[in-house]
Amino acid sequence: MSKENETTISTASRPETNGAGAPSGEETLTVTDNRTGRSYEVPIVDGTVRALDFRAIRVDEDDFGLMTYDPAFMNTAACRSSVTYLDGTNGVLEYRGYPIEQLAERSSYLEVAYLLVHGELPTASQLADWQHQITIHTFVHENIKEFLGGFRHDAHPMGMLLSATGALSTFYPEADDIDDPENRHIQTIRLISKMPTLAAFAYRHAQGQPYVYPDNDLAYSGNFLNMMYKMTELKYEPDPRLERALDVLFILHADHEQNCSTSAVRSVGSAKPDPYSAVAAGIAALYGPLHGGANEAVLRMLRRIKHRDNIPDFVNGVKEGKQRLMGFGHRVYKNYDPRARIIKKAAEDVFEVTGRNPLLDIALELESIALEDDYFIERKLYPNVDFYSGLIYEALGLPVAMFPVMFAIGRTSGWIAQWREMVEDPEQKISRPRQIYTGERARDYIPIDQR
Ligand code: SDX
Repeated sequence: MSKENETTISTASRPETNGAGAPSGEETLTVTDNRTGRSYEVPIVDGTVRALDFRAIRVDEDDFGLMTYDPAFMNTAACRSSVTYLDGTNGVLEYRGYPIEQLAERSSYLEVAYLLVHGELPTASQLADWQHQITIHTFVHENIKEFLGGFRHDAHPMGMLLSATGALSTFYPEADDIDDPENRHIQTIRLISKMPTLAAFAYRHAQGQPYVYPDNDLAYSGNFLNMMYKMTELKYEPDPRLERALDVLFILHADHEQNCSTSAVRSVGSAKPDPYSAVAAGIAALYGPLHGGANEAVLRMLRRIKHRDNIPDFVNGVKEGKQRLMGFGHRVYKNYDPRARIIKKAAEDVFEVTGRNPLLDIALELESIALEDDYFIERKLYPNVDFYSGLIYEALGLPVAMFPVMFAIGRTSGWIAQWREMVEDPEQKISRPRQIYTGERARDYIPIDQR
């Protein structure tokens, strides 16, 4: 049996206890299989037990052994990671140990991207070099423009971003040499630098406006605003307050441990394709309204509610199960999402420039009603990162369909940091879950005239 199929549990020799079943103090689980009467000691490591260890629990030699069953991975750790720390109970989020509140207040998106990818904050010269490398890789191959031109004018930009990111792999065929650190580095740079360009091109395509090329004099977020909004002026000058707000939003969306889209990147990445294909899988997952698509769904929900006096009926509809309060709830946070708190404040800064978004009043009223209602309290439903972010994007003039695209830009550095960690993790192999088979067995083919 190959090493990875070996289990580390043995039939338990009853651990020493005082006879009253008091704990032995050992870091093990003692499991008794009542089908056989045999007991097993399962090691507990880092608060987990290895699912593979349960394969040793069998009724006879022909038995495959026990598996664990965990649809949607509600209680399964799939990897060891040092990228992001989440404490859902206390609403704590740290990138490489640095609290999100401090990074949002004092860092920049590219500095945070460096931190996520390399594990440490950069020195001044490291940051300057990193910024330079990102800046000189913002262009995409001219053929990408023709590729994007093939989409309908009303194509959803997430569908365009997903496709264009996957298409990038065909322009860098060497990218699939993922075991070469230098190659991983240049593809990391390209993905982080080109995502805003692809996003802006998708927006300009939908607007029927000419593409705007990157301006290397501008910083990351300012250049994105340039590619989005430059018209006939010779030089686009981003409003520094909007540029800062965007940078903070990218920081807040940069990583979030093993969320759905990151798990998709890791799972696809485990088969060892190039990173563009793995990140395209992440974009596809993020597209979903239960994940990154929620910020788009929140805006549509607020527009549907329209007036504050419609809120009570809407909330009753949620409690009757007719619809969800989009932007609320989280698999991990059973407390206020710390990012939502920061975004709420950033919104005020943006509205100083753009004027207050009237939908904010509906969002604030909806939040205060929900936070006092037992339905939401019992289910620990609080605002998440998507509840307020759309209000800022709308104030920046973005169409709703672009909201998840903004999420994808920020999350690219997290996806690539997690992908690198997975590639470098000696414990990782191709992801291939098992199943509980519930279908028919061994049926003989029936000719069509007898069916
Ligand atoms: C993101 O994982 C991450 O880290 C994701 C993310 C990241 O940075 O990557 O944080 C980004 O995806 C944020 C979440 C964005 N999605 C939404 O805002 C969509 C609305 N929220 C949900 O649909 C839901 O809360 C999820 C998907 C976020 C979490 O779903 P879970 O953990 O599977 O919870 P569940 O669907 O099993 O719900 C538990 C209960 C249910 O009630 P009962 O059946 O027990 O009566 O809570 C209810 C649900 O009906 N519920 C909601 C609700 N979310 C959960 N009821 C009303 N409105 C909601 N939003």
